[in-house]
Amino acid sequence: MKPIDDLDQRGEDLPLLEGIRTARAIRRLASDPVPAALIRKVCEAGTFAPSGGNRQPWIFVAVTEPERRAFIAKLYLEAFRRYIAPAFETAAKDKAFPEAKLRNMKAALHLAEHLHEVPVHLFVAGWTRRGETQSQALYPCIQNILLACRAVGLGASLTTAHLTHREEIDRYLGLSERTPTCALLPIGWPKGKFGRPPRESVDAKLHFERFVAPSV
Ligand SMILES: Cc1cc2nc3c(=O)[nH]c(=O)nc-3n(C[C@H](O)[C@H](O)[C@H](O)COP(=O)(O)O)c2cc1C
Repeated sequence: MKPIDDLDQRGEDLPLLEGIRTARAIRRLASDPVPAALIRKVCEAGTFAPSGGNRQPWIFVAVTEPERRAFIAKLYLEAFRRYIAPAFETAAKDKAFPEAKLRNMKAALHLAEHLHEVPVHLFVAGWTRRGETQSQALYPCIQNILLACRAVGLGASLTTAHLTHREEIDRYLGLSERTPTCALLPIGWPKGKFGRPPRESVDAKLHFERFVAPSV
């Protein structure tokens, strides 16, 4: 964990593309508190995202009180266990199950089991149009926040497992049906290091003029 120093300057010197390439999901987090000024700073980065008509639909709710985090973590864990169980069953049966995938699943389960200890549960909520949740309007903002966390040295990841209990959690957060949460970003000081996440080469993904299916 880094010492809390000049919060205004923190993160201002990380080159943008290096930050993008090394903003992997950090799910092993210390329980030490995060200064409110840093929560504000990463959310401010979120507000510079594009949005349709510049509507700026985002609402941020940062939950930091231990008993409130415990309430959320209990619901998240229950939902996440149910979601991930089939994948662990498959992994147990399949000797060729990819190691990297299993590592990722274990890290995600670790986060779920320790979410109550994570100092900041940052919810991003938005708006609905004709009854439809407009999640897509929030993802550029969410990615900006994740990158800002990387820049200031905070570990974070994008999660949505709480949506299984969205109505209950939104009510708890004081949000209405018209301003549903879209994502929960657990944020804290990383126990591990930042680094490049495993990714396929862009050359396998980029096509000029027309998509050409890879030959099998
Ligand atoms: C829309 C969306 C929802 C996700 N929901 C969850 C989640 O609920 N819990 C979780 O642990 N990871 C979730 N993830 C995956 C992680 O945030 C992360 O992107 C993924 O594990 C890749 O990690 P890496 O960037 O370190 O390779 C979600 C990702 C996306 C894009």
